[in-house]
Amino acid sequence: MFKIVLITSAFVGLVAVFCTFETFTPYRKQLLNFFPEPVKLYFDFGSKYAKIQDERLLTKEQLKRFTGENNRRIYIALLGKVFDVSTGKKHYGPNGGYSFFAGRDGTRAFITGDFTEKGLIEDINGLSLQELLGIDGWLKFYEKDYKYVGKLIGLYYDKYGQPTEALAEYNRKLKEAQKEEDNKKEDMIKFPPCNSEYKQGPPTDDPQRKNHKNNGDLDHPKMKLYENCDPNSESCSFPE
Ligand code: HEM
Repeated sequence: MFKIVLITSAFVGLVAVFCTFETFTPYRKQLLNFFPEPVKLYFDFGSKYAKIQDERLLTKEQLKRFTGENNRRIYIALLGKVFDVSTGKKHYGPNGGYSFFAGRDGTRAFITGDFTEKGLIEDINGLSLQELLGIDGWLKFYEKDYKYVGKLIGLYYDKYGQPTEALAEYNRKLKEAQKEEDNKKEDMIKFPPCNSEYKQGPPTDDPQRKNHKNNGDLDHPKMKLYENCDPNSESCSFPE
């Protein structure tokens, strides 16, 4: 009897070491190839199966179970990223005002406010650049306030956890939106609304210097010199 306990303990110990230590990762990958697809997806140690430590890959069916019913945890997904929002039970739990977000990816509704079945979908096609910035804002909010769980197999991640073309497209448009926003901010500094105090910006160069290149505000594509007005004058008058 003692022998059986000893052998069993040694076996369990070996399995635990094999499953835990980084050194054995390549062997785990090899071994996993002998298992069927769902097992691979669950453990996904293989390079093709993009398991990142402490990250899960969920199907929509799996995600559906995490709505806080029967004291289970509450998960929501945004742009295919799954977050554990159990600490926000008052919002997302079965009696919460935002319970419809639980157990699914309803990215579009975060912007449209359409909380019907038709509106609570992953697809964000047709949203404006400004609205994409809104989604990014929500994503930052969940990353800051809640625990990241993993990825949802769907529109934004494939069954190997790899980002899809839809996600790449979102990222491209987001960059465009951020650039547009930066330009707006820059313009706002240069051309503040006329109800605010205006402080003249550089010329950082001495305009008297022969080789000076910096024309201050005049370098901006929207600015040009009034005709017949000396660039160094402080005011110019024009006939009515
Ligand atoms: C597109 C429309 C909207 C979306 C997607 C949305 C989404 C959300 C979400 C997800 C939360 C929970 C945040 C958390 O985890 O802490 C929340 C909270 C909240 N929302 Fe909204 N919301 C929307 C519009 C509104 C509007 C129009 C109002 C007010 C009239 C409002 C008032 C609130 C309040 C007061 C809370 C905090 C509740 C509390 O802390 O007890 N929301 N919202």
